[in-house]
Amino acid sequence: MNTTTTRPSATWPVPDSPARYGTVSRCFHWGMALCFAVVFSAALVHYFAEKTALDAWLWPAHKPTGALLMGLVVLRAAWALLHARQRPPHVNLAAHLGHLALYALMIAVPAIGLLRQYGSGREFAPFGVHLMQARPDDKIEWMTQLGSLLHGELGWVLLAIVAGHIFMALWHRRSRHHDVLPRMTD
Ligand code: HEM
Ligand code: HEM
Repeated sequence: MNTTTTRPSATWPVPDSPARYGTVSRCFHWGMALCFAVVFSAALVHYFAEKTALDAWLWPAHKPTGALLMGLVVLRAAWALLHARQRPPHVNLAAHLGHLALYALMIAVPAIGLLRQYGSGREFAPFGVHLMQARPDDKIEWMTQLGSLLHGELGWVLLAIVAGHIFMALWHRRSRHHDVLPRMTD
């Protein structure tokens, strides 16, 4: 009996292909979307309802989940670059630029947040991992100032682009040729 013939669709994890994102790309996309939901919910509640019970509950998740996103985006970008040739092509230039902007901000926003955290000289141990030791007498002013100036602002810009991204993914459903949602779901 010939046991060597396997259908490509039967392989797991499913690889990236021009028709759809594979298992690893989808895990990065939806797993990180979930983490972004936590980080942005915390930021929104912190901005609009600081010092409420909801803020006290959600805000402690902001920094650790943001630090986790920093690690994940580095792995995701490496994966995307390594598999760029076999992934679905961009539907147009705007979609390409939109995805590049998402990557740029997904890297810059948590990086600047972490830089400010380091500059503050305070200990930082997300999920119990001792990432930064306390340095009580060693505050680095330019790092904290850069963070205060840019972290929140760029974070809101990222939120706006994410909203546009979700809107466009749903908008494209109306088009037979540009319906991209199944690339990430089906
Ligand atoms: C992708 C990940 C992240 C996103 C999208 C994000 C987004 C935001 C946004 C939109 C704000 C503004 C909230 C406000 O003005 O009240 C904010 C504030 C802040 N974030 Fe992040 N953040 C991320 C990661 C981090 C990380 C890794 C850290 C530190 C380790 C951090 C620390 C802070 C701090 C300290 C504030 C200021 C809160 C205040 O001014 O009271 N964030 N972030
Ligand atoms: C309900 C939420 C979301 C939906 C429905 C959605 C939908 C999609 C779809 C359909 C694609 C494929 C687009 C194409 O091939 O042209 C895609 C790709 C992408 N999405 Fe989302 N998305 C969501 C949330 C997010 C979030 C929160 C982020 C980042 C902050 C994000 C970042 C990206 C990026 C960078 C790509 C390019 C493919 C990659 O490298 O992973 N998405 N998204």
